[in-house]
Amino acid sequence: MNILLLGSGGREHAFAWKIAQSPKCSQLFVAPGNAGTSEVAKNLPIAVTDFEGIKAAILTNQIDLVVVGPEEPLVKGLVDFLLAQEETHAIPVVGPSQLGATLEGSKDFSKLFMQRNKVPTAAYETFTADQLEEGLAYLDKQSLPIVLKADGLAAGKGVLICETLEDAKSSLKEMLLDQKFGEASSKVVIEEFLTGIELSVFVATDGKSYRILPEAKDYKRIGEGDTGLNTGGMGAVSPVIFADAEFMKKVEDRVVKPTIAGLASEDISYKGFLFIGLMNNNGDPFVIEYNVRMGDPETEAVLPRIESDFVDLLWAMGTGALKDYQLEISPDYATTVVMVSGGYPGSYEKGFPISLPEKVSGSVIFHAGTGLNQEGKLVNQGGRVIAVTGRGKELKEALENAFSTVNQIHWEGSYFRKDIGQDILKLMN
Ligand code: AMP
Ligand code: GLY
Repeated sequence: MNILLLGSGGREHAFAWKIAQSPKCSQLFVAPGNAGTSEVAKNLPIAVTDFEGIKAAILTNQIDLVVVGPEEPLVKGLVDFLLAQEETHAIPVVGPSQLGATLEGSKDFSKLFMQRNKVPTAAYETFTADQLEEGLAYLDKQSLPIVLKADGLAAGKGVLICETLEDAKSSLKEMLLDQKFGEASSKVVIEEFLTGIELSVFVATDGKSYRILPEAKDYKRIGEGDTGLNTGGMGAVSPVIFADAEFMKKVEDRVVKPTIAGLASEDISYKGFLFIGLMNNNGDPFVIEYNVRMGDPETEAVLPRIESDFVDLLWAMGTGALKDYQLEISPDYATTVVMVSGGYPGSYEKGFPISLPEKVSGSVIFHAGTGLNQEGKLVNQGGRVIAVTGRGKELKEALENAFSTVNQIHWEGSYFRKDIGQDILKLMN
């Protein structure tokens, strides 16, 4: 099978690494990819939103299966575009339709979907600029803290947790009137603050059947002890001790089943990954958000634990044959530590040469924001640069393997969190 994978992050390097291991894959192309994907696949210089360019690459390279990594092309309707073209309509794509992608593209849409399908989530109301007065009055009646969410995609920055009523009111005005997050905040969801421990649950679906992939915990803040600014994610651990069998059964019965049944009954075409951000509130799951893709860096911890053939899984998702797929998961731990450019998530300098160890053991190095400079040297080109995943029978061993590799990787200003997994180790003792 010739496969085209779209994206350029650590998530896509992990996908490419996993796909390339399958005997079912003949040729793998990644558009646009990064320096890491070029080691296991052929990178194509095509942007993920260049629909015509993607179509041309599918035809030129006789692609049999398309796999979409990030949300942006999905929310912009790539899958519908390919399905509507005579030359590409029969080629299976892993990624939801534009309507399906609205589960991530609009918080209001996803809250209404959850309400209709009785999926447990925080209480909320949605307001537009003409409803500012109602919004302010609604805030008066809520308890604190309170959560304000830009309706549309805001590069992961559109969520504000407000501790005071004053802050909530001024933030609501900034979002609705001053377009704090641009068009994305022309509608704002005001939501009850949920307490508990967060985890990420991943579901593979063909729109009818589903398979629950390994869950993971993400470390979102830049600083140790979960302090400082939010990032795309600084690390991940899988499995997660507080997601025991009893909790995961509740997740399946109360969240996954009604979600998949809702997609089917509402005729929302969805062949792809669904990432469910959950709060474990005293043992009960509440959905914080849906994402219509895999998480990053969670993917780098989740995919290594999948033991059954990954290309078979993707093919089954894209062709609607998931009900016959046998998913096999390793009980081992996988822990991912993300190395970032100095200054991230604020501004940072690019172009510093990166030194990587020649050989590593018990771990894998995934590239995210890497590239080659004019002399062909590996350099940092983005905020999140490298993700190292360590494996082990025990969490401690997996973490040791990850950090021993991280400690051999250097570039000027590189930073990582040393406390990834420590909270879970404590819970286990
Ligand atoms: P989101 O962009 O929806 O993932 O939100 C970003 C982060 O804000 C989440 O990962 C949570 O940590 C936090 N968050 C979002 N909604 C809530 C909520 N209702 N209660 C508590 N924390 C929340
Ligand atoms: N790690 C969180 C995300 O991918 O959105």
